[in-house]
Amino acid sequence: MTTKAFYVTTPIYYVNAQPHIGSAYTTIAADVTTRFVRLQGRPAYFLTGTDENGTKIVEAAQEQGKTPIQFVNEIVGQFKEAWSQLHIEYDDFIRTTEERHIRCVQEFWRRLKQNGDIYKGIYEGWYCVRCETYWLESEVPDGLCPNPECRRPVRRAEEETYFFRLSAYQDRLLRHIEEHPNFLQPEFRRNEVVSFIKQGLRDACISRSATDWGIPVPDDPSQTIYVWFDALINYVSATGWPDEGELFHRLWPADIHFMAKDIFVRFHSTLWPCMLMSAGLELPKRIVGHGFWTADGQKMSKSTGNAYAPMEVAQALSSASGCQIDVALDALRYYLLREVPFGLDGDFSSAGLVTRFNSDLANDLGNLLNRALALAQRYFGGAVPEPGAECPLATVAEETSRVAAAALEDLAYSSALQAIWSMLAAANRYFNDQAPWRLHKEGRVEEAGAAIYAALETTRIAAVQLWPFMPHVSLEMARQLGLQEPPNSRPWSEAVRWGGLRSGTKLAPGNPIFPRIEGKKALLGLGRKEAGEKDENEVQMSTVTIDEFQKLEFRTARVQAAEPVPGAKKLLKLTISLGGEETRTVVAGIAEQYSPEELVGKTVVLVANLAPATIRGVVSQGMVLAADLDGAPILVTTEREVPPGAKVR
Ligand code: MSP
Repeated sequence: MTTKAFYVTTPIYYVNAQPHIGSAYTTIAADVTTRFVRLQGRPAYFLTGTDENGTKIVEAAQEQGKTPIQFVNEIVGQFKEAWSQLHIEYDDFIRTTEERHIRCVQEFWRRLKQNGDIYKGIYEGWYCVRCETYWLESEVPDGLCPNPECRRPVRRAEEETYFFRLSAYQDRLLRHIEEHPNFLQPEFRRNEVVSFIKQGLRDACISRSATDWGIPVPDDPSQTIYVWFDALINYVSATGWPDEGELFHRLWPADIHFMAKDIFVRFHSTLWPCMLMSAGLELPKRIVGHGFWTADGQKMSKSTGNAYAPMEVAQALSSASGCQIDVALDALRYYLLREVPFGLDGDFSSAGLVTRFNSDLANDLGNLLNRALALAQRYFGGAVPEPGAECPLATVAEETSRVAAAALEDLAYSSALQAIWSMLAAANRYFNDQAPWRLHKEGRVEEAGAAIYAALETTRIAAVQLWPFMPHVSLEMARQLGLQEPPNSRPWSEAVRWGGLRSGTKLAPGNPIFPRIEGKKALLGLGRKEAGEKDENEVQMSTVTIDEFQKLEFRTARVQAAEPVPGAKKLLKLTISLGGEETRTVVAGIAEQYSPEELVGKTVVLVANLAPATIRGVVSQGMVLAADLDGAPILVTTEREVPPGAKVR
């Protein structure tokens, strides 16, 4: 007997654009759910992939002077890279140009045809290439695509095509939706589907005569299978169907299809279930349509420059805070799932991300861990102290695990995180109230140890609960807590039990996982591209006018003293002279390349009229210039000895 795996899918993304935080959102949610199911000890299987056929791909390839296959291969690589950077662990990545998919789609077509559900006719109406969607005359009053996320001009389509007898399934579909209240989620979108179906389903065009980049219709090579008909079948072709072998039985029916609202109603909740009914295959258990993200208050688009790549955001976050890039990527996962209840729309902003980073991650989570580790180091030789007889946090942690698991089951990611953060707040309060430093001073060493134990044990449990959301951070927390096993090595129910941390365990504190982001850096430098400005891929540099340039004041300066900035590995505080009496303090991220001693006496170039910024508590009055050598700053100096204070132009 084959054990059924919990089968999770994302949409297969169009490869006419790079992955961005919108497509990352769905993929992260699917990854979190898959990790959670596995953490409970249940088998899971996670499919993602790319949608590579259709007119829009041909046109995007043409724009770049590439053949479609050349073009799609490049972008597919970018998707795989982005997902791996974001710690997404899929089991299979399906591409609709693969042989296994083509074979499956053609067989699917044949089955529907044999059932009498496919016939030939003439289509007359509109077609939107961006959405690859046919629209009726009555749906397009203004020549624009009716999809609110698109609104681009539509094209006239008048062609001989094949039709699928969608209308024949209307009643069966409505009955299925009624009898399976969890089939379509969230509920308000389910109602939208029901009214859409009740308006009357019309037979659907499922081939195109105008494009040849795609899968040929079996026995009629003059026609290409409509890209949506082909794309939806990916969920089945990845199971090995039409071979109903071990993999098929392990996977089908899918447990959750994830997507946003844009492709929920017509395609996944209407066309797809009817196609499956006609093919005699079971319907997926749940179809989930989450909300849409805008960025900086605007629709994300290439031309606006706000379709941020996940790595671009993480790099900005990492350089603003000094955290590891893998931590920044996890912080982005956290932000996206925490900020907005799943199902609703959200707006991405650097400021929002920085607030979450500083207050949730650096303060509530990071500080608790750092403080407990530091005190264990100071009073208990760096080992986990003995727990007390009873601790109120034990009950809090137990209740939190119950609430968080139930929320994760319901895909209520942000509620799960809220519950975990209430637990962390309780632990911070308890730690402050107990004040183990005071207890220790008063000679109440055991009580001090118990309070520190409670904080450490809460963070250990948090590391388990956070494994699905921030796998890298969770591992790093476990490492600092001196644990030998990764947080996902035991099933959730066992791992979250209070008391798992053994006293005497040697702790391994390292750098703080989440260094706070200070002052001006809070904007991360994202979103600076103005509307209409070129995308960076178009290899155009933005220019400044001579007037703008002249506003900047560059001057030479001599380093008089240099010292490390406490708690910041990369930063040095420099005292520099600009000639005469004038000295300044500047903070520079060069500690990994230069020792304080070698800097004294060096001539550097200063941006002298930058507004001061507080970095790690030090007011930096300007910025020294450095060349970027593979990410390492190399100081800019003058070719000949020049006195400090000289203008640089
Ligand atoms: N190729 C089709 C899907 C076929 S599935 C059988 C397609 N591709 S897409 O690249 O346009 O991806 C759409 C999906 O990407 C959305 O349903 C959603 O999962 C995700 N998102 C793309 N942009 C998004 C936002 N701005 N916000 C949230 N999700 C976003 O449609």
